[in-house]
Amino acid sequence: VARLIRLGVAGLGRMGAIHAENVTAHVGGVELAGVVDTVEPVAREVGERLSVPWSTDLADLLADPEIDAIVVAGPTATHAAMVEKAAAAGKHVLCEKPLSLDHGQSVRAIEVARGAGIKLQIGLQRRFDPDWAAAFDRISRGEIGDVHLFRASLRDPAAPPEQYLRTSGGLFVDASIHLLDVARWLIDEVEEVTAFGSARSDPLLAEIGDVDTAVACLRFRNGALGVIDTSRVAAYGAESCAEVMGSRATLRLAHDRRTNVQWRTPGRASYELVADFAEQYARAYLLELQAFVAAIRDDAEPAVTGEDALAACVLAQACTRSLHAGHPVRLTVCDGAFGVDYAIDEEPVR
Ligand SMILES: NC(=O)c1ccc[n+]([C@@H]2O[C@H](COP(=O)([O-])OP(=O)(O)OC[C@H]3O[C@@H](n4cnc5c(N)ncnc54)[C@H](O)[C@@H]3O)[C@@H](O)[C@H]2O)c1
Repeated sequence: VARLIRLGVAGLGRMGAIHAENVTAHVGGVELAGVVDTVEPVAREVGERLSVPWSTDLADLLADPEIDAIVVAGPTATHAAMVEKAAAAGKHVLCEKPLSLDHGQSVRAIEVARGAGIKLQIGLQRRFDPDWAAAFDRISRGEIGDVHLFRASLRDPAAPPEQYLRTSGGLFVDASIHLLDVARWLIDEVEEVTAFGSARSDPLLAEIGDVDTAVACLRFRNGALGVIDTSRVAAYGAESCAEVMGSRATLRLAHDRRTNVQWRTPGRASYELVADFAEQYARAYLLELQAFVAAIRDDAEPAVTGEDALAACVLAQACTRSLHAGHPVRLTVCDGAFGVDYAIDEEPVR
């Protein structure tokens, strides 16, 4: 009988709590061994609720030789250091996106993980969602023909708290990164971005240099074009959708419904909408955890690597640069030590 993989979760906010609950409730072959949050009441509440040891110090999880892996779900600024510490202790890591806002730190975390021989998977959960995965399968089998256009949206119902906003890296790095990751995965590498953004809902966003509404145009290496839009403040709820137009077929994918039940009354049809990303991607968060556990058990390469996270982050930062500079930003795509390396060209495109 295969031994249970023992997992600890560090950072127990919105995302960490989802991961911790998924480990205890829904994923086979894995056991929650402990939880950590620097805020003691948070750590205690989650630990007691899930009946596992809790602590305010990651070192306690790392010192436990029975723990195989750590889920890193603290604020973005804590990820790289936590990945390095976990790797140094020989623990595999599932790290929330993005790895780091700093390119050098991301590279170092990837190198340390590689040097330690641990699995490093990143929480870009769309890749595990059955609908996005089905889209990937059809596109990669060539059923769509030549891709002409990629169009995708990500919308959240309300902006996160101020403390989160101040450290998130901005809308592109925090949210659009999910669409930029699927753009690379489904279509091709991106060679140029032009981004626009606006802060419509709260003066705080402008004060901290962020936006709540943004559009980015993408030019792919294979000649296809892309348009992605992102909102932090969609009054109606959460939505994620995409369309890929090809020479032979067009696919559409939409995640906005709570169920597949439509309600019809005279002159009107309606359905219930999901409330937030937690409900929208509940299944994908489970599947990403299962895939992580399988990668550990089978000694396989995780499906979303640190290199993927780094590439998506560079694209997101290119969008941020385009937004602030007011011109397109070109990227040099090269095959390097990190799979595909992106370098942002410093010269304005035009
Ligand atoms: N994949 C997704 O769909 C998705 C969705 C939301 C957030 N995220 C990512 O998850 C991360 C966390 O976001 P969130 O919304 O859960 O944030 P959050 O602010 O709700 O939670 C962060 C938690 O980490 C704790 N913390 C702070 N420093 C810590 C440290 N050094 N060690 C341990 N715990 C620490 C905080 O006390 C807090 O409880 C972010 O990097 C974000 O980008 C991903």
